[in-house]
Amino acid sequence: MGGGECRSNDYGAATYWDARYSSPSSTGGSGGGRGGEFFDWYQTYPALRPLLRARLPTSSRMLMLGCGNSLLSEDMVKDGYEEVVNIDISSVVIEQMREKHVDIPQLTCNLIFIMDVRDMSFFGDETFDCVLDKGTLDAMMCGNDAPHGASKMLEEVARLLRPDGVYMLITYGAPKERVPLLYQAGCDRKIKLYIMPTPGYQLKRSNGAPLTETIMEEVALTEEGQLPPDYVLKDPESHFIYVCQKSDAANGAPVKSCSQSHNGMHMKTNQISVD
Ligand SMILES: C[S@@+](CC[C@H](N)C(=O)[O-])C[C@H]1O[C@@H](n2cnc3c(N)ncnc32)[C@H](O)[C@@H]1O
Repeated sequence: MGGGECRSNDYGAATYWDARYSSPSSTGGSGGGRGGEFFDWYQTYPALRPLLRARLPTSSRMLMLGCGNSLLSEDMVKDGYEEVVNIDISSVVIEQMREKHVDIPQLTCNLIFIMDVRDMSFFGDETFDCVLDKGTLDAMMCGNDAPHGASKMLEEVARLLRPDGVYMLITYGAPKERVPLLYQAGCDRKIKLYIMPTPGYQLKRSNGAPLTETIMEEVALTEEGQLPPDYVLKDPESHFIYVCQKSDAANGAPVKSCSQSHNGMHMKTNQISVD
């Protein structure tokens, strides 16, 4: 996945991810998060940090969709983020992440779950200030269930976000493919787009010298939510970061008053509650 294309329909299947996360590197499966190694798709926290810190307060209640074995959540809490809830459809990777995070209170057992992003009914409405997605909508769009699965996921994202909450999507998908989907998440007219060249391109540009600053450009979308017609990507493989603010009346749903929600994260009845 990446480079603007799906390389396998399996990216939408739990069985594919379980096999990938459990395949030992000795069988030639190393790289890309296989063999128990920790791996970030697309971009790492240091590169994303300026945007995350600018847009998402450290006190935000965060949900990480399809966390995989990315270091993003761990790096975020080490940098001051107070709470990140991680979910993934792969039981194999969730077990690996539970072990890895055993000593990190902001990421431990009661904040990490095996869950399908198409059905997050475990969580109550408007539970999160921010939903982060690095590569998971992309995986859904590669699956056999696309685009239906992606729509279901985005409906759930809209439900879980509090009014004015933020869905941050880090993807290889250009506005043509992603903006129509984002409108479903109640983000109409509130989408900000940032474009980041791949780490490989950035290294080439610096002639192999360590990068001292993130190359990230904010690009104003047209009225139709597209790239300006004369816009040229510096790196054709660039990553797109959509920062989508949920409008108050997303999905036509009435905005709940504060008195209807709890101070702490609220789950649906009979589920755990973290206050
Ligand atoms: C491309 S990887 C991205 C992993 C991680 N977010 C990162 O940035 O490195 C996509 C992840 O989505 C997970 N995934 C795929 N379909 C899913 C679904 N329906 N529900 C939850 N997670 C899913 C996979 O198990 C995998 O860990």
